[in-house]
Amino acid sequence: MNTKILSIFPITAKVGDDGCLSIGDVDITSLVAQYGTPLYVYDENTLRYMCQEYQNLFAKELPDVAVAFAGKAFMCKALATLLEEEGLSLDIISQGELAMAVAGGFNPKRMYLHGNNKTIDELTDALLAGVGYIVADGFDDLQNINDVAAALNKKASVLLRLTPNVDPHTHRFIITGQADSKFGFALHMAEQACCQALAMPYIDLHGFHCHIGSQIMETEPFVQTVQNVMPICAKAVHEWGVNLRRFNLGGGYAIAYNEQDKLPNYKEYVTAVCDEIKKQCQLLHINIPAITIEPGRSLVGRAGVALYTVGNIKERQNGSLYIAVDGGMGDNIRPAMYEAKYLAAVANNMLAVPSREVSIAGRFCESSDILIHNIKMPLLKRGDIIAVPASGAYSVPMASNYNGMARPAIVFVKDGHAKLVRRRETIEDLLKCEI
Ligand code: LLP
Repeated sequence: MNTKILSIFPITAKVGDDGCLSIGDVDITSLVAQYGTPLYVYDENTLRYMCQEYQNLFAKELPDVAVAFAGKAFMCKALATLLEEEGLSLDIISQGELAMAVAGGFNPKRMYLHGNNKTIDELTDALLAGVGYIVADGFDDLQNINDVAAALNKKASVLLRLTPNVDPHTHRFIITGQADSKFGFALHMAEQACCQALAMPYIDLHGFHCHIGSQIMETEPFVQTVQNVMPICAKAVHEWGVNLRRFNLGGGYAIAYNEQDKLPNYKEYVTAVCDEIKKQCQLLHINIPAITIEPGRSLVGRAGVALYTVGNIKERQNGSLYIAVDGGMGDNIRPAMYEAKYLAAVANNMLAVPSREVSIAGRFCESSDILIHNIKMPLLKRGDIIAVPASGAYSVPMASNYNGMARPAIVFVKDGHAKLVRRRETIEDLLKCEI
C-alpha cells in the first residue's frame, strides 16, 4: 500500500488489517452503508487540532492574535459550534453564513463581515446581530456602513481592506491582493479612505485588512504584504490620526493535495509573519496592534474526505479507462474551475497495489467533469468506495444543484462515533422554491 497518501488524509486516518480505511475510528464502509455516497466526512480531531495549532503558534509570538476561520471554506451549524468551543473568531461574507454561524451558537462579536458589494440588508443584519467588525471594501461600502449604522444608531467597528500589490504565486483565479483587484482600496487610496472613515460619525476605524490570495505555498508573499502595509499603518498613526488597534492579515496558507506538494509548515509561516510584524512596528515606531488572521483552507481542508461509489467503467479505444463515480463537479467544482489536482484511494481496499492509470469521472453532463485525470489506481470494480482526501475546503460550500442533482450529506466523526450534521438533499428540497 502507498502509506504516504495517509499524510494528506485526516490525522486519525488508519488502515485496518482488512484493508479498510477508518477515520476518527469509524470504518468508512460502515459509514457509506449508513449514509450513502457522495458523502463528505469531517474528522473532528483534525479540525480541533488545526484550531489549536494556529492559536498556540500565534500565542507564542504575539500577545493579541485572533484566529478567524474563513467561513467561505466550509460552514455548517456543527462547525460553528466546534469553532465557538475552540474560541476562534470567524470571517463571514453573507447573511447565510451569519445565520448558519449564529444557529450553531457562534458569538457574532468575534465575527468579521466581508464583501465587495455588501447589501444594505446584510449590513443591517450584521449590525443588529452585533457582528464585531465590518471590513470596508471601497468608498461606497464605507458610506453604506455609516448610513446603516446611523439608521440603527449604532457605531460600526471598521477595518479598511487594502490591496497590498503582492504576487502570491498561486492560481490566477484565486489571487486578490494585486493592484487592479476588484477587492479593497489600492494602497494610494488609503489616506483618503482613512480621512473619510474618520469623518464619519457612525464609524469607529480600528485599522486595516488585507488578503492576497489562496493556496499560497510560500511564506515570502505574506512577509512582503506586511512590508507593504505596515508603512501605511504607520502613516495612519503618525499623520492621519488613526487609533490603530487591529491589523488583519487575511488567510491564504496552503494545504497539501498531493504527496508531491511540499507539506505546509505552519510554524514557519506563523514565525515569519510575526517576526516581520514586530520588526516593522519597531522600525516605524508604532505599537504592535492586535492581529487577526483568517485561515480557511488550512483549517478545514485536511479534515474533510469525499467518498464516492464506483459505478460504470468504460475503456476507450486509445486505452484510457474512465471510472465513473456518483458525484463530481456538483459537489467539487475545483478540478473543473481551477484545474485542481486531487489524489484518491480505494477506501474498502487500501492494501491493493496500484496497477493502471485511470481517470475518475463525475456523473455530470460536462466533459470537464473529471475529478482526477490519469491517476494510477488498483483494479477497480463497481461498488468500490473511492476516498478523495484534502476535500474539506471549498468543495461543500461551492456545491451546486447542476443537472438537478442533490447536494451530498455531511458527517462528523470522532472516537468511533459518526454524527450526521447535514442530511443529503432530496428532490423535495429541489422543488421547494418552485412556484
Ligand atoms: N479572508 C478573505 C477575505 C478571503 O477572501 C479568503 C478566501 C480567506 C480569508 C481564506 O483564504 P484561505 O485561507 O482559505 O486560502 N474557491 C477557491 C478559494 C477562494 C478563496 C476565497 N477567499 C478554491 O477553491 O481554491
